[in-house]
Amino acid sequence: MKEIIKENGSVYCNEGAWKRFSELVSLLNPSKVFVLVDKNTKEYCLPYFDQHSTLSSYELIVIPTGEVHKNIHTCLHVWNELSQKGADRKSILVNLGGGVVTDLGGFVACTYQRGISFINIPTSLLAMVDASVGGKNGVDLGNLKNQIGVIKNPNAVIVDTYFLNSLPQAHLRSGIAEMIKHGFIDSEDYLMRSLDFNADAKNESAQLIWESILIKDKIISIDPTEKGIRKTLNFGHTLGHAIESYFLEKPNNPPLLHGEAIAIGMILALYLSTELSSFPKEKCTLYSQEIVSRYGKHQFSPTDIKEIIKLLIYDKKNSHGKVQFVLLTDIGTSKLNCSVPEKKIFEAFKFYELSRAE
Ligand SMILES: NC(=O)c1ccc[n+]([C@@H]2O[C@H](COP(=O)([O-])OP(=O)(O)OC[C@H]3O[C@@H](n4cnc5c(N)ncnc54)[C@H](O)[C@@H]3O)[C@@H](O)[C@H]2O)c1
Repeated sequence: MKEIIKENGSVYCNEGAWKRFSELVSLLNPSKVFVLVDKNTKEYCLPYFDQHSTLSSYELIVIPTGEVHKNIHTCLHVWNELSQKGADRKSILVNLGGGVVTDLGGFVACTYQRGISFINIPTSLLAMVDASVGGKNGVDLGNLKNQIGVIKNPNAVIVDTYFLNSLPQAHLRSGIAEMIKHGFIDSEDYLMRSLDFNADAKNESAQLIWESILIKDKIISIDPTEKGIRKTLNFGHTLGHAIESYFLEKPNNPPLLHGEAIAIGMILALYLSTELSSFPKEKCTLYSQEIVSRYGKHQFSPTDIKEIIKLLIYDKKNSHGKVQFVLLTDIGTSKLNCSVPEKKIFEAFKFYELSRAE
């Protein structure tokens, strides 16, 4: 079995993972089990969960689907449900869903009665390779990403790649973006293989998913609370989150999925890396083309870019009012806390506009 064993936050993948789930629930000996789903994971994932979890009974809590519901209002709904259905400090919450369910469910569990146990069962690719692992739990504040939250590991993460069979293609692509990010910060070998991710090749894709989890785990084990090296996991996210926020607040625009925004953010960060930290130019061009050929391109007017830059002040890596980027000196080597002049950000958008699919 593929597993990472820790005091908290152990990850169990595929074969044997459900056995571990049952063992852990027995060990926790909960007064009641609560299962949190969104409308889609209720329909597509709950039946499979019921077959494999061997839970004799649980209370179900359903939230609406999508990033626009990753907010305190939805938390209030879940806290109320927990309270009305008799949750106490010995209850556990099982988060069965994508990154919205695991981020929000984790936050609710960490705050309900000062903290109850919780287990993440990620059902989207993005949640498997990134969101469910590492203990960052939280919600958005208006359109501002992940402004409210806590860092606390789930009791365990159960990864079963079977769930990906029902995941829509656009959300698969969104998850691949975080695997590509893991490639940029870890190694060119993994980067190239993640660019070729094919969910239909079951064994290879399960292996790539596991390697992504290992890359993230290697970093968060050294720096669980993001004092230093964990910031590398934010490669592409400084502008990526600002772009995602900007799209969330624009009613006329269809919201950009998290991974789609991060894909753009990574191209911008690659350009900034060549300009400000000697990242090889040819790799910047090559991998920008690779990303554009998978994610297409969005148009940004000068007004859009100005508004996106304004949103950078809310980035959680900022210190003393200064926006701090993660840049690369090469694939696998990052430079933290980089200041970037505004002029360079405009240039990076120009580079993105001119980038062509391979
Ligand atoms: N905590 C972290 O470290 C971390 C890291 C990266 C991203 N995130 C967060 O993760 C979120 C994005 O995660 P996401 O892309 O999983 O979003 P999501 O939870 O909205 O899931 C994507 C969509 O797929 C549906 N879905 C999920 N699993 C399915 C399945 N098996 N079959 C059918 N439909 C399914 C969901 O209902 C939703 O419509 C963002 O809020 C982002 O900020 C958190």
